Amino acid sequence: MSKNRLLGLISAMAMVPALAGAAEEEITYANQVSRIIQDNCQICHQPGQIGPMSFTNYEEVRPWAPLIRMRVLDREMPPYQYDHDIGVQELKNDWRMSDEDVNTIVAWVDAGSPMGNLEELPSAKQYPTIGEWRLAEELGEPDHIIQSSKWDVPAAGQDLWWEPEVPTGITESRCIKAVETLPSAAAHGSTHHANSHFLTQNEDGEWETFGRLSEYAYGKLGEKVPEGACRTAPADSRVGWSIHYYPDGNAVADDQVTVGIWYHDEEDNFDEEASYPQDLRLYALDGGGDYLIPPHGKLMTQGYHSFDHPTRIDSWQPHLHLRGVAMTMEVFDPATGRKEVLSQASNWNAGWNHSHTYEDGFQPLIPAGATIILTSWFDNTANNPRNPDPDQWVGAGQRTTDEMSHAWIAVTHLDDEGYEQLLAERKDAEDRTVATSGGAR
Ligand code: HEC
Repeated sequence: MSKNRLLGLISAMAMVPALAGAAEEEITYANQVSRIIQDNCQICHQPGQIGPMSFTNYEEVRPWAPLIRMRVLDREMPPYQYDHDIGVQELKNDWRMSDEDVNTIVAWVDAGSPMGNLEELPSAKQYPTIGEWRLAEELGEPDHIIQSSKWDVPAAGQDLWWEPEVPTGITESRCIKAVETLPSAAAHGSTHHANSHFLTQNEDGEWETFGRLSEYAYGKLGEKVPEGACRTAPADSRVGWSIHYYPDGNAVADDQVTVGIWYHDEEDNFDEEASYPQDLRLYALDGGGDYLIPPHGKLMTQGYHSFDHPTRIDSWQPHLHLRGVAMTMEVFDPATGRKEVLSQASNWNAGWNHSHTYEDGFQPLIPAGATIILTSWFDNTANNPRNPDPDQWVGAGQRTTDEMSHAWIAVTHLDDEGYEQLLAERKDAEDRTVATSGGAR
């Protein structure tokens, strides 16, 4: 904490002259805003992508300037619901814009959205090739692929949910190294998001959720399992899909979403025996879904989870529907009496489902016996802009108009030795950082 504050102070001090200079120079599309739009928006807002309008040049961006100002300021765009300034801030594939960039956009719009000097425009940005694995450059083609069953995406219409179950074809359980979800090239503009989970059969032959396989929203890279952890792809399993299509004007017959799995193998020097098991599971916050939110009412639900061994939390993905407005994940350690917020999403939007993956070295380390507290809040009043009908009683259920209250969390299950080792590594890293920044001054 104190280290972060110190670093914050140092960078704030370093910025003073830059800011003073920037204040004199007019903010224009050419000199600053184009770069911000490229870095944060264009991946979705270009022809053929899921964004409803294209932002590839000044003429396209200019008419939307007032709405862009509003959406970046209320942090609805880019769509990534994870709070600043509370909990762990170091995330992989973090889409949040810096306050500085938000302020630049606001100042630009308030100044009348000037174009500026064409010569200052950055060169066009390269985007990943549609229909190709983004992890392939680093890892080669996936070892195993699984496809959703075929589905006809219509050209127009409402949101569609497609939830088929398919056999995985996995005959021997393996440790997953990385996983990526790929929509088809034809339907990538309408595949809003696609999540998948493993199912295995219990003793009675019923199919039960085993754990999450992959999560995808447009623009996201695949996920790599952290070093030293084994996330199992179970043998004789099925994959359950939850795909959200949002028709974009192009009809696609027989569409399929594909998930690619890269396994650990001997070449990686991966020692399965010495690895710690990691799983990505659903943690309920609602005591089995037994709740009702009254018309024009509010509700809070909570879930408590603890382990008899130390753990490391690798990712957190809240899930609520339309009345849901916020979720937090905290940890309470009875040994110290301390409670700490790990993560918070207080601007929930059910249209986007992101797994927030903590940066290596910043994943929360949870001592044995500590309690993970998940809290979610629901607002069924007319004040909730996403509420379709405040006159309804709302209970738990599958439909979008019902509610849900759970989080998908990736947990690496450690032992005392592994836990102590990770703590020691963090301490070393911290000492090094402090020493370096001290030495540089
Ligand atoms: C991951 C893809 C994605 C990214 C990144 C993204 N958008 Fe969007 N944007 C969408 C989609 C999809 C919609 C339409 C549905 C919605 O509003 O959620 C949208 C809608 C919008 C709208 C219209 C909102 C309204 O109220 O009608 C604006 C304005 C907008 N985006 C601006 C931006 C800006 C500015 C950025 C970058 C700072 C950005 N978007 C980044 C996907 C994206």
